[in-house]
Amino acid sequence: MSLTPAFLDELRARTSLSALVGKTVKLTKAGREHKGCCPFHNEKTPSFYVNDDKGFYHCFGCSAHGDAIRWMTDQRGLPFIDAVKELAAAAGLEMPAQDKRAVQKAERAKSLHDVMQAAAEWFETQLGGLDGAEARALLERRGIAEATRRAFGIGYAPDSRSKLRTALRDFGDAMLIEAGLLIQVDGPTGPREPYDRFRGRLMIPIRDARGKVIAFGGRIIGEGEPKYLNSPDTPLFDKGRTLYNLDRASAAARKADRVFVVEGYMDAIALAQGGIAEAVAPLGTALTEHQIERLWRMVDVPTLCLDGDGAGQKAAVRAAHRALPLLQPGKSLSFVTLPDGQDPDDVMKKGGASAFEELARQPEALVDRLWKHELAAEPLVTPEQRAGLRARLRELANTIADKEVRLEYVAAFNTRLWDFSHPERPSQSFRTFDNGKRGKAPYQPVSERVLAISKAGIDQVTIVPALFRGLILYPDMIRPLSETLVRIPVNAIRLRQVRERLLDAALHEDALDSARVLTILRQDALEPVVKKLGEVTLAFSFLAHKAEPEQARRDLALVAEKLDVGPAIETEIAEARTRYSDGWNERDYEEYVRLLKAKQRMDEVFMDALLPDEAPAA
Ligand code: UTP
Ligand code: MN
Repeated sequence: MSLTPAFLDELRARTSLSALVGKTVKLTKAGREHKGCCPFHNEKTPSFYVNDDKGFYHCFGCSAHGDAIRWMTDQRGLPFIDAVKELAAAAGLEMPAQDKRAVQKAERAKSLHDVMQAAAEWFETQLGGLDGAEARALLERRGIAEATRRAFGIGYAPDSRSKLRTALRDFGDAMLIEAGLLIQVDGPTGPREPYDRFRGRLMIPIRDARGKVIAFGGRIIGEGEPKYLNSPDTPLFDKGRTLYNLDRASAAARKADRVFVVEGYMDAIALAQGGIAEAVAPLGTALTEHQIERLWRMVDVPTLCLDGDGAGQKAAVRAAHRALPLLQPGKSLSFVTLPDGQDPDDVMKKGGASAFEELARQPEALVDRLWKHELAAEPLVTPEQRAGLRARLRELANTIADKEVRLEYVAAFNTRLWDFSHPERPSQSFRTFDNGKRGKAPYQPVSERVLAISKAGIDQVTIVPALFRGLILYPDMIRPLSETLVRIPVNAIRLRQVRERLLDAALHEDALDSARVLTILRQDALEPVVKKLGEVTLAFSFLAHKAEPEQARRDLALVAEKLDVGPAIETEIAEARTRYSDGWNERDYEEYVRLLKAKQRMDEVFMDALLPDEAPAA
């Protein structure tokens, strides 16, 4: 039985968060909130806010965030149950009766913590003792310095079935068994004598987020199986929810805004010794959902470092698939592939931190990792195989629960599919503003009518429907423009639905024609919008009856890109203008002019997409 949400709500409501936080952080009132210097990271100007109305604190510097209970666990370091007890006592609330058992469990966990702590200390002592010579030699061979050994609390379990049991006998066999330190098996006449689980191994304590030892990983000293022996799951230790080195890595990760997920204990330790503290490791299993969520509480895009061999790449894809349903705007995974057969420990040994940094400089995005994997999964010679690729991509995108992210993936896959089947005309070549290389007739003056239209206010609102109408007429353009299309701000909800359908149709089907697109769009409640789109008349080449198809397609791309890039350029111009008028220096001025010119060029190009009505009278 756990504490009910209602009780916890009551507890939060009765607690003044600013008063609680104010005990340790100097807070000043700022409007409806309080602010102060963040206790979770080093700062001189306050970016830590406490909001009593909402009952939350938030740091804009390091993203530390939570309520009163979270404050007690994260800042004060209390276990959850103790945090609740203390807050309840302060608020004059009686702990709910059914929670006695939870409290007992917490108390039991507390003494298990004591056992683990005692064991860790004993292992450390053994490493320094006579028995520990071989283990010390191993550490030396592996280049693990004394300071590192101490920071990570590395120890040694002597090759004996009873030494630990004897040393820790005060805790009693039952507790040592529950802690996973002793093994007891049944014999024909009842349970046999318990014996030490870890024998003749280098002992690496596994700690929870608060630095408490909850398990051990034991590495064999010489050759033998298994190479690593880990604690079994215990009331303290749940393998799938634990990340090795989280306690030491998390502050560094927030500061550096990156965290590496490596395969082994030794990798995390080697990185830390080389000055890269922000590395954690799962415990010999594939990354779980819990672990992914935990990583996201530190940084938005954790980086998986995996071996270039088959197994490492399989693990990368497995993690990618597991993350997909959980993705949120801004949250993702990225991937660093290490040279074949090397782990981060090897890289650090060979080339030090700089070698590792070099490999980690440009991690691969999740979307690229998935795309490459699917592309390589099967030959793509027959139409069936190519349809298979598209079906697999669609299936992957469909596992994403978050709608915004799903849409982006559909678009990203669309664009890549286009580039794959049109290597001679990659979608990027539609981006024409930057390079200025337009494969088109030289700029011609626009006609009076076109100018009139532009003065009448052709803006986002009027152009977006024209663009969509153009896509209905030239559906083969949806794929190459997918990534541009999702970025265009579209306010009307119906039009956003149209966009979704268009993107989805492009991912589903290879040979889309206008009739088919219209059928797809007309499903459900979109009929009126589709009708309206049919009525759009602007003098764009792609809406004209007798358009030259290649020109129409090119102009369609131009318009889409203008809608995408346009607002960004406006913002940049405004910012540049401010910078210039603040500083009046030449560099800022040049930047401002450069942007103005880019916008002008873009507008001209855009106007070109409008069909000149007639040549102006000479
Ligand atoms: P590796 O076999 O890659 O070991 O296992 P490693 O980290 O490179 O270790 P060294 O450098 O040979 O000492 C990676 C991780 O998989 C788990 C451990 O968590 C290990 O750190 N593992 C491996 C086990 O749990 N049991 C094993 O027998 C082997
Ligand atoms: Mn290794």
